Amino acid sequence: MSFSLIGTGSALPKTIQTNSDLTAFLDTSHDWILSRTGIESRHICIEESILDIALTASINALENAGIEPKDLDLIICPTLGGDTVTPSLACLVQEKLGATCPSFDISAACTGFIYGLDLADAYLSRDKNMKILIIAVDAMSKLINWKDRSTAVLFGDGAGAAVVTAGTDLQSIHLTAVGNQHALCIPWPKGNHPGLVKKELPLPYLNMDGAEVYRFAVAAICNDLRRVTRDAGIALEDLDFIIPHQANLRIIESAAKRLKLPMDKFVLRVKNQGNTSAASVPLVLDDLNRQGLLKPGMLIALTAFGGGLTTGACVLKWSKQA
Ligand code: ACO
Repeated sequence: MSFSLIGTGSALPKTIQTNSDLTAFLDTSHDWILSRTGIESRHICIEESILDIALTASINALENAGIEPKDLDLIICPTLGGDTVTPSLACLVQEKLGATCPSFDISAACTGFIYGLDLADAYLSRDKNMKILIIAVDAMSKLINWKDRSTAVLFGDGAGAAVVTAGTDLQSIHLTAVGNQHALCIPWPKGNHPGLVKKELPLPYLNMDGAEVYRFAVAAICNDLRRVTRDAGIALEDLDFIIPHQANLRIIESAAKRLKLPMDKFVLRVKNQGNTSAASVPLVLDDLNRQGLLKPGMLIALTAFGGGLTTGACVLKWSKQA
C-alpha cells in the first residue's frame, strides 16, 4: 500500500524560553547550550494545555487538507502522554473536533510520527477510502526535571499533524525498536495499594545517558536513511530534503558527515524549537509545506529516533500541490 499526505498542521505554545532565561534557575550558559546542541530557544506550554496545541495543529491540518472532522475515519495520536491518562489525547481531540471516528494514542517517543505513518499505511491497506489524522504532540516541559541542567536545556513543546489517505507518496518505510531502559527513561511510579512495600519512588522525570543516546542517534540516522533510500530504489543524493528529528544540531552534523551529504539537505528548526519529541518531524514538514517549498515530485526523507529505544525513517515522493 502507499499513502499521500493531503494536509499538514502544527502548533507551538506562546511562551518562548531562551537559553538566557534558563540561567535564572540553572547553572548553565547560553554559550554552553548553543555550542553543544545548536538550541537558542524553545516554546513551553504555560498558558496552553497539551490538548490546546493538539487541537490547533489538528484544525490546521484539516483546513490544509480541505476536509471536515466528520470526514475522518481514524485519529492516531503519537505522544508520551496528554493531560489525562484516560481519555487518550486522541479521544479528547476527537471530542473537541466533533469527529466520530475511532481514536487512540501510540507510544513511540520521538519516533511516534513515523510509527503513526506506518500504522496509517496498514489501515489503508484494509480500506483505501479512509482519511486518517495523525497528531504528534508532546509537552516535554512537563516530563523533564527542571533542576537537571543536563536534560532541561534540550527540550521544547509542540504539536505537528498530518492528514493521510490512500495515494502514492510513500516510497519506503522502516521501523526499529531496541528495548532499553538505561539510555532514556521516564519512570511512572504509581499505585497506593496499602500492600505495596514503601520504598523511595523514582521521580517521574526524564533520565538520559546523553552520550549513549548521541551515539545511538547518529548510527540510527545513517542506517535508517541508507535502508529507506535503498528500498525506494534511489540514492541518498537524490533526496531533495531530509527532515531529521530535531534533537541536537551536532547529532545531525555527525550523521551528515558520515553519510557524506551536504548539511543543506537537512532541514533544521532545532535552533528555535529544541527537541519537541514526537512533534519534531511533523512541525518541520508543516513549515516547509506552508512556505510552499514542497513541490510535487520532490523526494523527502523523514528520520527519527527516541525513547524505547525506537527509530524510524521513510521516503516520501511529495504529491500535494502548493
Ligand atoms: N550547562 C553547562 N554545563 C553542562 C550542562 C549545561 N546545561 N549540562 C551538562 N554540563 C556539563 C557536564 O556536567 C559536564 O561537566 P564535567 O565535564 O565537569 O563533568 C560537561 O558539561 C560535559 O557534559 P557532557 O554530557 O559530556 O556534554 P556533551 O557534549 O556530551 O553534551 C548532550 C551533552 C547535549 C546531552 C549530548 O550528549 C546529547 O545531545 N546527547 C543526545 C541527547 C538526545 O538527543 N536526547 C534526546 C533523544 S531522544 C528523545 O528525543 C526523547
